[in-house]
Amino acid sequence: MTKARLFSGMQPSADSLQIGNYIGALMQWRDMQSEFDAFFSVVDLHAITVAQDPAELRAKTRRTAAQYIAAGIEPEKSTLFVQSQVPAHAELAWILSSITGFGEAGRMTQFKDKSQRYGADQTTVALFTYPVLMAADILLYQTKAVPVGDDQKQHVELTRNLAERFNSRFGETFTVPDPVIPGETARIYDLQDPSSKMSKSAESQAGVLYLLDDVAVTAKKVMRAVTDSEGVVRYDRAEKPGVSNLMSIYGALTGSALSAVEDEFAGRGYGDFKKAVRDAIVAEFEPVRARTLELLDDPAELDRLLAVNAARAAEVAEETLSAVYERIGLLRAPRA
Ligand code: TYM
Repeated sequence: MTKARLFSGMQPSADSLQIGNYIGALMQWRDMQSEFDAFFSVVDLHAITVAQDPAELRAKTRRTAAQYIAAGIEPEKSTLFVQSQVPAHAELAWILSSITGFGEAGRMTQFKDKSQRYGADQTTVALFTYPVLMAADILLYQTKAVPVGDDQKQHVELTRNLAERFNSRFGETFTVPDPVIPGETARIYDLQDPSSKMSKSAESQAGVLYLLDDVAVTAKKVMRAVTDSEGVVRYDRAEKPGVSNLMSIYGALTGSALSAVEDEFAGRGYGDFKKAVRDAIVAEFEPVRARTLELLDDPAELDRLLAVNAARAAEVAEETLSAVYERIGLLRAPRA
């Protein structure tokens, strides 16, 4: 039996992924890659929706790909590629933008938040059409499952709507994908501001844990994480967001249920608890960091691997794109 398709991606928007990307995305990807025919992309075209330094963008793209591999995505088993190396993504995005309503795109909460933050002059048109490119990513591969954090759920909903709209207007062309959202505890919050989702683009870096940070930096950030005055390790997102967030991280990395974490630290203070969280994070990150640096030591080999994977992705993507062009009535050049 052929495996169902899976597609997901991350932006190469920082030198290092943060622990939310790791727990909320990479860990699920790693677990799902055997069961699915999986495509994982480093979405560099999404990253340029905000200004990027060219040399840094290239470096961040390699670093992101290296972190996927170091975290356990196997480039022989899964197709791990850089989005811009498969031109069909940009091409399908244009086509899909022609069936996307202006109002529909305007309702995307991530766009509303970001455009408000940057102001009209700094907000690009690409930031507005960002979800349409994301829909193209997903639909090109006839994707069934899209594992993402719940901040991306609305974009997958838009993707479903576009797929259904296209299919009903032009005939069955796209598989309608389903979002696969991990449980609440896979959503990781900022250690200093546990009411906000942890993000690479946070203004203060004090509460963001990076996979590639030095151990000492990570340790310090964990030990300084905001808690509360109750002194009890107990999960309560509303009343104890800081402690609950650390419990989520610890539970995810050690494979323990929250109740087991509560039991483990019953009668022990936050100092003890934080040390255990710190140790779990360091133990998880260290090998990933070492392997990432090793992979980055040989950029030519990494680039070769990515190119091979992009060629594999392009084969699938071109087939879908070709069907799309045919359906919408573009005059195709005869095959040479
Ligand atoms: P990005 O790069 O912002 O994040 C990548 C993945 O990490 C998840 N994530 C988190 N999960 C838990 N806690 C957090 N604090 C946290 N921060 C980030 C995100 O939910 C995401 O799953 N638009 C996407 C990239 C993309 C994509 C796609 C994803 C482009 N095309 C097609 C899936 C399918 C994004 O910006 O993710």
